[in-house]
Amino acid sequence: MSGPNTNYDPVEVTPLSPDEVARMRDEALAAIASARTLEELKEARIAHFGDKAPLTLANAEIGALPPQARAEAGKRVGAARAEVRRALAERTAQLEAERDRQVLLTEAVDVTLPWDRMPPGARHPVTMAADRLSDVFVAMGYEVAEGPEAEAEWYNFDALNFPPDHPAREAQDTLFVAGPKETPAEGGPGGTGGPGGTGGTGGTGGPLSSGRSGGPLSSGRSGGPLSSGRSGGPLSSGRSGGSGVILRTHTSPVQIRAMLSRPLPLYVVSPGRTYRSDALDATHSPVFHQIEGLAVDEGLTMADLRGAIQSFVDAMFGEGLRTRFRPDFFPFTEPSADVSMECHICRGASARPDGEPCRVCRSQGWIEIAGCGMVNPRVLIACGIDPDRYSGFAFGLGIERTLMIGHGVTDIRDTIEGDVRFSRAFGTEI
Ligand code: DAH
Repeated sequence: MSGPNTNYDPVEVTPLSPDEVARMRDEALAAIASARTLEELKEARIAHFGDKAPLTLANAEIGALPPQARAEAGKRVGAARAEVRRALAERTAQLEAERDRQVLLTEAVDVTLPWDRMPPGARHPVTMAADRLSDVFVAMGYEVAEGPEAEAEWYNFDALNFPPDHPAREAQDTLFVAGPKETPAEGGPGGTGGPGGTGGTGGTGGPLSSGRSGGPLSSGRSGGPLSSGRSGGPLSSGRSGGSGVILRTHTSPVQIRAMLSRPLPLYVVSPGRTYRSDALDATHSPVFHQIEGLAVDEGLTMADLRGAIQSFVDAMFGEGLRTRFRPDFFPFTEPSADVSMECHICRGASARPDGEPCRVCRSQGWIEIAGCGMVNPRVLIACGIDPDRYSGFAFGLGIERTLMIGHGVTDIRDTIEGDVRFSRAFGTEI
């Protein structure tokens, strides 16, 4: 162990000379001042204040000095290190403040930005119209009924008394999903024209299936109709095998579903999507919507049908517009009619010799709005309902068409293109 070197002069020891200490200090201060980031400052700290920094090493030399030299050298080095320490602390504070300011700038959330740039979603005008139309009938005591869009051909056509060769079944009009299943013509279940268990029929069976007796349908529906339906007529269409599957061409198959599954009396309304293989143009769309109404009760007459239609027109287009029935033909109603209402814009004035032309009714004074009629007894029979006891009326109308008439929409494509500018005009009702 060697004691302090009594001959040791700090001025002679280069690292401890005032000039050298000042140089090391200045170098440290310059490095600290020029550090532009906390990272650079950390490097400057290690280089000038760390264990191997010149001033640290110089400080370590002080112990080896003779006592009389130690105080002076200690003061000099101590003052220099204190200055460096202070400079480090100041620069650290500066750079930290700088960093915090930068973080605030780059990670800032501008709370003044508009929060409602994304408008709230809204239901489509067709949906709103379907709901409004349904509401009118619900208010009269009707229930809402539904059916599948991919429908058994049997429900869409056969049960509605469309003969097998009816042109509406043609591929030009109907979109086919699947052909009929091959099943034996006689004897097997569904072998005589029933839906034969095809998709979506829910196993209700065709009109002739044994599933018909019993259950809710048996009330008032026992006896004859089922057997009379069995012999001949369009319902036993001669097509063996089950029913094919199509995209329903109208909402009328829901009539059949309702009659087969609900107790009598029956008052239902059924809005929904329908399909036809039409090319898209201003007045045709392969996808559109209809709403169907059906009432089956004892003693219903055409007067009840007229009353229901008039109430509907009053509710949708305002009171005071007359309705007109003209003979028409639908296989599932007898008699059938097409319904027109007085034009809600010109109120018939445009049809008079001196009247201003009207674009909405094309100066006819009347606008066709629906097809309707008294349910054909054949259809009641197909559903196991006794036509001697019950009668019914039905109607169907296009939802887009009603929307277009009511709001002066001239191009049906507007209802399917999804342009929000079209929808917005109807309001953002949720
Ligand atoms: N289903 C018919 C169509 O799409 C419309 C229709 C007519 C429905 C008369 C009915 C009705 O319920 O009775 O053209």
